[in-house]
Amino acid sequence: MPGIVVVGAQWGDEGKGKATDQLGDRVDYTVRYSGGNNAGHTLVVDGEKYALHLLPSGILNNSVPVIGNGVVVDLDVLFEEIDGLAARGVDTSKLLVSANAHLIAGYHQTMDRVTERFLGKRKIGTTGRGIGPAYSDKVNRLGIRVQDLFDEPILRQKVAAALEQKNYLLVKVYNRAAIDPDEVADHLLGHAERLRPMVADTALVLNQALDRGEVVLFEGAQAHHLDVDHGTYPYVTSSNPIAAGACTGAGVGPRRIDRAIGIAKAYTTRVGEGPFPTELLDDDGERLRRDGGEFGTTTGRPRRCGWFDALVVARACMVNDFTDIFLTKLDVLTGWERIPVCVAYEVNGQRTDQLPMTQTDFHHAVPVYEYLPGWSEDISAARRFADLPANTQAYVRRLEELIGTRISGIGVGPEREQSVMLHDLL
Ligand code: GDP
Ligand code: IMO
Ligand code: MG
Repeated sequence: MPGIVVVGAQWGDEGKGKATDQLGDRVDYTVRYSGGNNAGHTLVVDGEKYALHLLPSGILNNSVPVIGNGVVVDLDVLFEEIDGLAARGVDTSKLLVSANAHLIAGYHQTMDRVTERFLGKRKIGTTGRGIGPAYSDKVNRLGIRVQDLFDEPILRQKVAAALEQKNYLLVKVYNRAAIDPDEVADHLLGHAERLRPMVADTALVLNQALDRGEVVLFEGAQAHHLDVDHGTYPYVTSSNPIAAGACTGAGVGPRRIDRAIGIAKAYTTRVGEGPFPTELLDDDGERLRRDGGEFGTTTGRPRRCGWFDALVVARACMVNDFTDIFLTKLDVLTGWERIPVCVAYEVNGQRTDQLPMTQTDFHHAVPVYEYLPGWSEDISAARRFADLPANTQAYVRRLEELIGTRISGIGVGPEREQSVMLHDLL
């Protein structure tokens, strides 16, 4: 089973970090293939908490961590994260970074901030990390790649070209000071020698590893419904977090991916703006937020909370062709008398069991709930499905039916061991 991809099935923060970590030492390579340090993946190992933004979760086990070509890399963040882990005794020496990955420079963060402010009420609620502007430059063929750091004249030319239009906009439209291209280039070049030994043709490395039958885990960031093509556009991120994104973002063919694991929370959360039919704006939402500790790993923003939406997850199951679902944070639902699950929407008075085709209808979708009996027993020590109370088992089985994909793992707490496995993920 050499190629496995892990993808968020909702709007992010499903617990991908923990689920990736579950595969642990049986994995040879762990690859980030999209996004950048907008991600925040929390892992709890032996009571120690780690929050990773750019490095793959595999950095905490024995696999070779890889930052693929599809990732946008902020070098300040990369080295800060490496130093933070090294100070805690984590070996980061095996890290590989694609020569084709694009860089996030300070001006991308500036553009992220000013464009959000300019959008006003229509803002996306981005993480402010410069992700969108860096991907825009990539597609606009004005991006700076990792390999450019090793050709100073080229780097200076490219930075100057990237800033030409931006400086015009910053000064004339956004009323900001212009950015000096040489200062930007100097700052980037300051990281070149430290980065050099990590830089590799990662597509070649990964394909050769797969040829040898080694296990490569593609670790998704963000999630299906934040995908720029398949998510709730424009309230999305600027990359393709879906399973297919692993092919473009790491440089492997679709036949290399043997298994696609969707990570879904037992309820739903979202950070930033955009439609969210099952969102709870009342005390129930507050209770989910408190019980689930739903505050962003990256920005600390309170996450919007709501009930499990089977239409949202079923859609992700279809487009990603998930072989398995890992259902996380089931323990957070302990203590409710009954638990609503969204099984359909009403849109303009019509019932539908598919996601609306248009964004306008999605905004107007009213959830239709089925109410499942809750449980009050503490489930955090459960390790086998049979350890779970009957109502908890029934909740899992009903979700499985609704999404049409088998649930192979269940999270009952943040710790590495706090999982119930129904089917092996490898
Ligand atoms: P990611 O971005 O998908 O990796 O998820 P985050 O790390 O942003 O958010 C998930 C949060 O839930 C983290 O704080 C995890 O430690 C925590 N977590 C993951 N799985 C479980 C679980 O099964 N139960 C509980 N209670 N917490 C979990
Ligand atoms: P992980 O990997 C949750 C959201 C932002 C915003 C939108 C665009 O931890 O699940 P961006 O900065 O990417 O341009 O912001 O996407 N977003 C996330 N929400 N989890 C994430 O990552 C996210 N990464 C981006 O809140 O709504
Ligand atoms: Mg997160």
